[in-house]
This record gives sequence, structure tokens and C-alpha cells, in this order.
Amino acid sequence: MGVVSRPVPRVDAYEKVTGRAKFAADLYFPGMLYGKVLRSPHAHARIVKIDVSRAREVPGVHCVLTAADLPAARSWFTYLFLAEDEVRYTGDAVAMVAAEDPDAAEEALKAIEVVYEPLPGVFTIEEALEPGALQVQDYAPGNIVRNSHWPVRRGNVEEGFARSDVIIEREYRTPFIEHAYIEPEATVAVPDPVDGSVTVYGSVQNPYMTRRYVAAALGTALGKVRIIQQTLGGSFGGKEEVMGLMCGRAAVMAVKTGRPVKMVNTREESFVESAKRHPFRLRYKIGATREGRIMAFEAELVDEGGAYNSQAQFMNWRACVHSAGCYEIPNVKVDVYAVHTNNVYGGAMRGYSSPQVIFGQESLMDELAEALGMDPVELRRKNALRFGSVTITGQKLDDQPVNVLAVMERVLEEADYFNRREEYTRQREKGGPRRRGIGMAVSYRGCGLGAETADATGGLVSVQEDGSVIIRSGLTDNGQGLSTSHAQIVAEELGIPLSKVVYQRVDTSTMPDGGMTVASRGTYTGGRAMLLAARKVKEIIFRGAAELLSCRPEELASSDGLIFCSSDPSKKVSFEEAVRHCLFRGETLTQLGWVVPPELPWDRPTGQGKAFPTYMYSCVVAEVEVDTETGQVEVLRVTAGHDVGRAINPALAAGQIYGGIVMGMGMALMEEVELHKGVILNPNFDSYTIPTSLDMPEMKPLLLESEDPVGPFHAKSLGEPAMECVAAAIVNAVAHATGRRVRSLPANLEKVLLGKTLARS
Ligand code: MOS
Repeated sequence: MGVVSRPVPRVDAYEKVTGRAKFAADLYFPGMLYGKVLRSPHAHARIVKIDVSRAREVPGVHCVLTAADLPAARSWFTYLFLAEDEVRYTGDAVAMVAAEDPDAAEEALKAIEVVYEPLPGVFTIEEALEPGALQVQDYAPGNIVRNSHWPVRRGNVEEGFARSDVIIEREYRTPFIEHAYIEPEATVAVPDPVDGSVTVYGSVQNPYMTRRYVAAALGTALGKVRIIQQTLGGSFGGKEEVMGLMCGRAAVMAVKTGRPVKMVNTREESFVESAKRHPFRLRYKIGATREGRIMAFEAELVDEGGAYNSQAQFMNWRACVHSAGCYEIPNVKVDVYAVHTNNVYGGAMRGYSSPQVIFGQESLMDELAEALGMDPVELRRKNALRFGSVTITGQKLDDQPVNVLAVMERVLEEADYFNRREEYTRQREKGGPRRRGIGMAVSYRGCGLGAETADATGGLVSVQEDGSVIIRSGLTDNGQGLSTSHAQIVAEELGIPLSKVVYQRVDTSTMPDGGMTVASRGTYTGGRAMLLAARKVKEIIFRGAAELLSCRPEELASSDGLIFCSSDPSKKVSFEEAVRHCLFRGETLTQLGWVVPPELPWDRPTGQGKAFPTYMYSCVVAEVEVDTETGQVEVLRVTAGHDVGRAINPALAAGQIYGGIVMGMGMALMEEVELHKGVILNPNFDSYTIPTSLDMPEMKPLLLESEDPVGPFHAKSLGEPAMECVAAAIVNAVAHATGRRVRSLPANLEKVLLGKTLARS
């Protein structure tokens, strides 16, 4: 390999470190107005009256709109551009304004009078499920999120439990977690007075999804809306619904005023309105023989969707597929469903349920091992999926390497797991206030969208007459490095230097909709489309080169910008020359590669089917030191190994692993959106704590490769797997250190020290 498998610098490195990169909030247009939104102070209330007459008089104000003034849809799916008669969480917007400057906009918001009739609300999973509970959404009886129930039925759990010697039942919980991307949401909508179209620049994770919102808000054709993604300061699944709503509102005000409208959320606004990681209540019953063979697994996993939903019906499918972890279990009964409450809504966040589900299930494995009097690693060795194993959804894994154990053993060895486990156990028995512990977790994860929805996408490769190459994808670079890995794939396939490849950011009018940049599919699916496009172009160029060299195209190879005959490398032509030859003959060197997903039939009532074409495998070992007098946990060392198939860029892959470890640490020990009656109590980073540089442990990333049959150059997924085991491993390490298990995240001071949370006074 010349370009792939190398830790080349990111293609966007220089523009970012020099500050030239333009984030959406950096954009200015002549005549631009500033938009602001008035949000509800109540989690649930009836809107009795809105009076905007005083706001319209504020100098510099160009428009003040309520739901009644919207030109088309009031909502997209269930989310409201502006609420009309009822607010269902504190992020709901009731009015919006556009003014000459942000201060005038702010003043206008203050001049809007809204009369609310506060209503009682539903604020926990338990309250939502209470018989006769107040119904948050008319269309969701019993507060069950529509289509969110996903079962797995395999074998017979009653028989499995009857044949078990040890059975345990446990419940675990995870809270709402904020994405904490460094850049709050921002957009500028620019109307075109000539053709009536609107161009929207924004910090959007999913431009095509955003386009649907904007077109719906304007009541216009998709083709009249153009979304251009700006450099993004992180998203992690977060800049989805919130951006659709923000861009829709900005576009409406832009068309209304005939001026560009910019909207930028403050950090507090971002916290209050945007989606959060779904909280889960994870209830399990698991049974095993005395020898540690798992015979039955039963689970009820309930997640909180909050006031609105467009994700749980998809996300819960992933939760059900991965609910029992990377183990072969003959008898399984799983039910996953989501509930509505009057809290902030749940949404996609790195892992799409797996960090929550793996926290529960890998904690459960440690607890089962303890009940069996068995080493937790030994229990995993006995039950792990192997080549030829059948997953809980009935998929036989015999068409790909199955590396649960290979990854696990390698990580345990690198982490010196067994020696340290023994040493810390001995130390613990001696007592003393500071205790060390070591814990582990292991997982597997389906790559891409699988049977969730069509995993199709496109890549465009356009070779220019000077031999430079433009590449475009419908998928986005959100900071994870997609632009670099795609450029590497194309440079490798064409045999040209990376510097010849020019990545252009997503513009919805220049690429077909290739779905969302989610599910760790950027490289795995998007990379395959790029490779396909590069291959189509290469075939044409090689035909041209063969003519010039008087040989057959099959005899040709290329590298470093030269195309040569493999049997006689002295017969060669430069890439540029071959390109010019093709263009001169009237060929096109612009090709679209389109990945067509395989058919993956799914039987919904039993949860049986081929869930994903390919899986990736991860293991994380964490070492902690706990101060048993304060409950403070210091993470000392994390060793994280992932079977990535192939790392297209090992430096970026390691970066994903470092980031995943940090995010997982936050989830394990600190992060929790605190709510009181639907009001977020910690809507900024002074009170919502995330790990900082001072918290960093020693981190050892391990990239393990395998011959995956599907991904481009065998590459699989990494973005989400990088964080999904981390919280489980850390909490298992804390339990090893203290001898006490925290079953509700985060494992903060109170829970580690006292085993519970003190009631708020
Ligand atoms: Mo992602 S959590 O698949 O947006």
C-alpha cells in the first residue's frame, strides 16, 4: 500500500490549525440579520395567548413570527418549528425574531408576552409507564414511543433457566448525556430573490435530513433548497434534529425578510433544545451452569425518548441485536421499547444505544462471574462468539473472521491484566484508603446500518485534465476525518499522490442523497462507494494508457502518479498523460460509485435474521484508583483494542480510540444531565462536567487487522466502537477496587462512596 494504512496528516489539518477553516458562525453576508428563538419556561403547558405587538416595535427588528405565521408545516415529523397550542418540553420554541443585530433580537424576545397555563408532566420512565399516566403525545398510548418495541425470541428461556445452576437478576440505569461538541449549533440561510431558492450553510451532521426540514418549513420543493455543510466542530449524532429545526426557522425568516438570516445557539440554548443520549433502564435475568455456560438470557430494556422522537424506533433495533453482547446463548427473550416524557428528547449519540446496553450487559457478566465464583475473563472465554457461532438473532457467523477472543486475549496481554488483577486483589484485602482495581469489557458491533435501513451511499470521483481529482460524498466530515480517509482510498486505488486529491464538502445539490453519516458507516460504506467510483474511473484511464503503451489494460498497474506495465515497468506513462488522452477522445472521467446494500430479511416478531453483513470486535481494559474516603475515581490506564479490519489511517484511527476513551470516561464517572420537573439544572460546562486534559489516563490504542470481506481494503468501523466498552470496563474496575458495584451511571463521588445518590434538598 502506498497511501492507505499510512498515518498521513489530515487533509484539513492546515486550514484548521491556522484558523482559516470557516465554521457556520464565522460566515457573514451583506445585509445579514440575526435570528433568535423564544423557548418555553415550562416542561408542559398550554399556550393561552401570545402577543408579539410590542416586539414588532423594537428598533431594528424585521420580523417576529409565531406558529400562526409559518408559511407551511408547523413541524417536521413530530418536532415543532414553533409550538402552537401546547409545549411539551423546555426546549420547545414559541416565537422567533430576526433583527439587525443580536441585541435587538434579544430585546424583541423580551418584549413578547406569552400566557401559559402550566400542566402536570411526566418526568421519569416509571411515571410514563404508570397506568393512567398523562399521555405526552396523542399518538402514543401508554406513552410507548411508536414502533419502538423490538423483541428477540430464541429457544425457550424457561427451559434455559431450568437447566441453569446459578441465576441472577439485576437492574442498571444510565442518564441523559450531552454530546458536548465544542461548537454550538449555527446556520446562515440565504434567500435567492431570482429563483426563490434558499441556500443554507450550517453545522449540520446530515445535510439531506436538514434539507427535508427546510423544504417542509418553506413548503417548497427539495430542489429549491440547497444545504452546504460548513466545517463542523463535532456532532457525535447531535447535530441532527436540532439543526433541522434551526435551519428551517432561519430559512423561513430569510424568505420572509428577503435577507440572509444567521442563527447561533448559545451553549445554554444548545443544552436545552438539542437531543441527548437516551437514558436506559436495563433489567436482566441470566442463568448459567456451574461450569459457566450461559443457558438463558432475559432482558427488558426501556429507554426514555423524551417529548419527541424520530430515533428510538431505529436505535432500539440496534439495542435488541446487541442486547446479549458478543456471546452465544441458546435461549433468549429480549424486549426493548422507549417511552415519552416531558423531558428533553433522546437522540442519536455515538454508539446509538450500545454504550448503555453494553454497560448493563458487561456489568451483568462480571456479576454473573462473581455469583459463579469464576474469573470474569474465564466466563467470557467460555461463552464468546467464535467462527461458526450463531448470534442471538440466528445469524451464523461463518463468512468472516470472528475475533472476539483474539482481540480480548491480545488486549489482556498488553494490559498485563492477570498479574495486576491478582496484585490489586491482594492489596484490597490489606485495606487502606486508596484501592486499585482493573476491569474489562468486550463487545461486537454490526458495521453500518445493517437491516435497520438501506445502507446505500454514493461517492463521486472526478478527474481533471491536469490529473488532479475532485472527490465528493453525500456523507460528511464532522471532524472524524472522513475527508482524509476517503482521499486516501481514492489516491491508493488510482495510484496517485494524496496531494492530488481535492475533497469538497457536502452540497446537497451536487450529490445524490446517500443517507446519513451515522452508524460508523463513513469509511465502511462511504469508503466503499469512493473505491467503486475510483475503480470505474481507473478502468477508463487504464484503457487509455494501454493504447498509449500498446499493451492490454489487465497488464497495467499504477503508483506514485505513474501507470506502468507490471511485466515491464520501463513501459510507462504518467497519470496526467493518460488522463489527457482519455479526455481528448471524449471520455468522461467523472464517475459515481453507488453501494447497493445486500438484502437482510428480518422477522420482527421474533427478532431473527441476518442483522449485519459484518461485525467488528473490541475489548477495553481499564485500571482505576479509588479514594475510598471521598469516592473519587482516578482512571490510571486504559488499553483499548479493536479489530478494525484495516486502519485506512492509523493515526486517525488511534485518534478515534483516544476520543472514545475520553467520552466513555465521562459517561462512566461524571456526565449526567440533571433535570428537575423537566428543567435542565446544569445547562453549561460549569456544572455539567466532562473530562479535561487533567483527567487523562495513560492510553494504549491497539489496532488489530483482519481480512474483512466487505469493507474497502477490508476496513470496518471504528467511530462508535471506540467508546462503547469504556464505561463498562471502568465501572467493572471500580467494582474490583471497592468490592461494591455501581449499577447506575455516572459512578460519581456519592455513588462510589455511599452507594447511592443523596436526595436534593
Ligand atoms: Mo450516530 S449515534 O449513528 O448519529
